[in-house]
Amino acid sequence: MKDNTGHTVREAFSSNLGFLLAAIGAAVGLGNIWRFSYMAYANGGGAFLVPYFIALFSAGIPLLILEYGLGHRAKASAPLAFAKIHRRWEWLGWWMPVFVMFGIMFYYQVVIGWCANFTVFSFTLAWGGDSQDFFLKQYLGLTKGPGELGGLRWPIVAATALMWGATWMIVYQEVHRGIERACKIFMPILLVTTLILVGWGLTLPGAAAGIQYYLKPNWAKLQDYKVWMAAYGQIFFTLSVAFGIMIAYASYLPKKSDLVKNAWITSLTNCLHSFLAGFAVFAVLGYLSYAKGLPIDQVITSGPTLAFVVFPEAISKLPFLREVFGILFFSALMIAGLSSGVSIVEALTCALRDKFGISRNWVVTVLCLIGLFGSLIFTTGGGLYWLDIVDHFLNQYGLVLCGLLECLVIGYVLKAGVLRSHVNSSARVKMTVAWDWIIKYLTPAILAGMLLRSLYSELAKGYQGYSLSALLGIGVTWLLATLAAALMLSVYPWDPVRLQAEHRPEADALFR
Ligand code: TRP
Repeated sequence: MKDNTGHTVREAFSSNLGFLLAAIGAAVGLGNIWRFSYMAYANGGGAFLVPYFIALFSAGIPLLILEYGLGHRAKASAPLAFAKIHRRWEWLGWWMPVFVMFGIMFYYQVVIGWCANFTVFSFTLAWGGDSQDFFLKQYLGLTKGPGELGGLRWPIVAATALMWGATWMIVYQEVHRGIERACKIFMPILLVTTLILVGWGLTLPGAAAGIQYYLKPNWAKLQDYKVWMAAYGQIFFTLSVAFGIMIAYASYLPKKSDLVKNAWITSLTNCLHSFLAGFAVFAVLGYLSYAKGLPIDQVITSGPTLAFVVFPEAISKLPFLREVFGILFFSALMIAGLSSGVSIVEALTCALRDKFGISRNWVVTVLCLIGLFGSLIFTTGGGLYWLDIVDHFLNQYGLVLCGLLECLVIGYVLKAGVLRSHVNSSARVKMTVAWDWIIKYLTPAILAGMLLRSLYSELAKGYQGYSLSALLGIGVTWLLATLAAALMLSVYPWDPVRLQAEHRPEADALFR
């Protein structure tokens, strides 16, 4: 788009509501139901909720405000925004979207593919009486370990390819109106179906015990750093903080926007939705524990499979319209996932165009093709193990580390007060200096403490019984490879002519 002086202007959201829908669309995704439920179950239910909400207020919301403020002030995607603070930090702005796109997104699309497959399975309630056996054995064809791939699972490959195709179409054709409209329809459907499952789940025998397990804090478990690490990782994941996404989105906001209010609305909507979905999950776990006569923490295998075992089970237990219900629930989850996945392709495309000025369509096509190939490993019989390891490393180390570095760069290089006064300039309820303290001392201290603690123990004991070589081989290599790519992208010089043409002098002033 060009303005009347011939300068390129950045497209903008036409309204704050448009931005909120996009930001909530990016935040609410599989993480809210699929990832939240297994994190909560694996970390002791009620033991998880306390750190989860503490993480939300001590890191999630402050960092979301930081990202909105940075993107809005710099009017730029993450790399350019960091380069404007200091050229030396540009790599951080690349690392975030790069390891999300070439890591998290690879398996995220596969899980959306699972949702697509389960939408089809819902027509006949194909999972039958034992949804765990169906999922692990018949559907995933799970092998014995990450070293044994056991071949591609074709229904999963097909669904994953379809999801990449859909993502490509949405971003390529800039049919954001399309995805916006889909979100407006499907987000409420997701909420309503979740509510019905909660309501119905609560009537099952044993549900009360499940809910109690979910809500009752387990103070002894709070001393376990692993629970805290998982909670912070989940908050970053679910809010899409430290992905570079929210920085890019906020760069498209109109000048006068209440960033603080937007951050509260996005994060509370997102986290309350997860909290609600948890009732359905734990009611059903309570029922399973009653039916099988086992303690709640032993009724099913914990891990990334949980949602695809528990929700089918819950759907089978409904008294009526089970097929319709299954179709609605899984397709809504799929749309929620797609609208999140789209956001990273969008953010990285925005970043690559800021720097290299290459055609949008070309970037999108290449990214989606690489993505599809990258996803294949997760569609094999051993894919679930890979998913578990890569997810663990990229979230709990990658995201947490990037969040920590973001705090330090804003807190000390740019100075937190500078960003705060920008954010405050159009906020109705203004932030106090407490935000500076959080960004400069509190959040970095918590994140650094956790990182070191868990690094130490994982090098000593490993993670979930995987061999150390599998962990280092898969997890660490993944982080380092994306870091190398980020460094290479950042040393390449900026084209001053194009930056000029972008016509954003007021944004540059802040940082010089
Ligand atoms: N916040 C999303 C969720 O909770 C996750 C997400 C957002 C995501 N954007 C993404 C994952 C891009 C992968 C790629 O589900």
